[in-house]
Amino acid sequence: MYVPKQVLTNGDLAQTVDTSDEWIRTRTGIERRHVAGAGESTAQMAIEAARAALRVADADPRAIDLIIVGTSTPDHLMPSTACQVQNALGATRAGAFDLNAACSSFVYALAMGHQAIASGEHRLVLVIGADTLTRFVDWQDRSTCVLFGDGAGAVLLRATEGPAGILATLLGSDGSGGDLLIIPAGGSALPPSKESVEKGLHYLRMNGQEVYRFATQTLAQATEEVAKRAGLKPDQIDLIIPHQANLRIITTAAKRLKLPLERFVVNLQEYGNTSAASVPIALCEALEAGRINPGQNIVLVGFGAGLTWAAVALKWSISPARAVSPAYRVWWRWLLYRWAGIRSRLRQATRHVTVWLIRLANRIGHR
Ligand code: ACO
Repeated sequence: MYVPKQVLTNGDLAQTVDTSDEWIRTRTGIERRHVAGAGESTAQMAIEAARAALRVADADPRAIDLIIVGTSTPDHLMPSTACQVQNALGATRAGAFDLNAACSSFVYALAMGHQAIASGEHRLVLVIGADTLTRFVDWQDRSTCVLFGDGAGAVLLRATEGPAGILATLLGSDGSGGDLLIIPAGGSALPPSKESVEKGLHYLRMNGQEVYRFATQTLAQATEEVAKRAGLKPDQIDLIIPHQANLRIITTAAKRLKLPLERFVVNLQEYGNTSAASVPIALCEALEAGRINPGQNIVLVGFGAGLTWAAVALKWSISPARAVSPAYRVWWRWLLYRWAGIRSRLRQATRHVTVWLIRLANRIGHR
């Protein structure tokens, strides 16, 4: 996982918009959020998170078959953020694409990655959730700017034999709620213009109450449904890692599922809503805290704009993650990343020289 160093507290926000620490804390549970600074972007955070995942799994980037980045705030509309990650890792064999299901993107991507492996096509799939929503919020709009933070989290899926791993997946959508959470401008319907910027149409707009209602219903329903598909009753789920949007949403879901809140991983007080990054960041922190152990049934569940929702039920099979790579392997990967940078620049230079030589040859031919 990766989160920016720059921290914005509720108190900091109260100095710039008409809000208070008390309001934000009681209505959302959020206390702080990490905000991308200069030089930080979705791709840069995704690359850092991917390198951390490769370190923990002690994997070679050249063995990755597929990279899926779940994000709704890519560095560019094109190329994809996944291709930027591929280039920086030197994942020379990998296919790469972005997947946008808003805050559900990571759980969607995890389900897709699992299916890519289950099909027998791929053996090693890197799945990342990364978002920089703070670049798309109106810092004058107190109803949205207090909610979001930035970050990235990554996992590496490996084909294995055995009963553990991903047990069931669930994907859902309801486009009729598209207007509830929307960035109106910047796409093909309303390309960026002086007018769109003046009207603030490139900022995120949200109907908080409607989204809240949708989220409280969906979180419990999706968890229940994916557990059922996995052959589990809700009380057989050891840990639920939900999208970190609002503590009240998670508390309501816990009540509906008749499960204690302790069964849920909650870290939104520190990061706010990091969109696609929230579930993998919570997963990493739960691992670090020793809350995940082999044999446990875990449900990851997300919801977001679209409207979308997704859930994955899995049985954890590996020992708690710790950086287990021997030092020489860490060093070896460091060299691979340096080489990836050199290789990338060499390829760019070769392309420029080739085009230049073709032009020169054409010019000589015309004479
Ligand atoms: N500080 C102080 N007052 C505020 C603030 C603020 N930051 N924001 C809103 N208010 C005011 C409102 O103006 C309103 O005042 P009024 O009664 O005078 O009109 C009052 O507080 C109540 O506003 P509500 O919107 O009814 O507040 P609510 O209790 O619903 O909480 C919230 C708002 C936190 C946004 C809640 O609706 C929510 O969490 N919704 C879900 C949001 C969510 O999960 N979004 C992410 C989805 S994931 C994705 O895809 C990005």
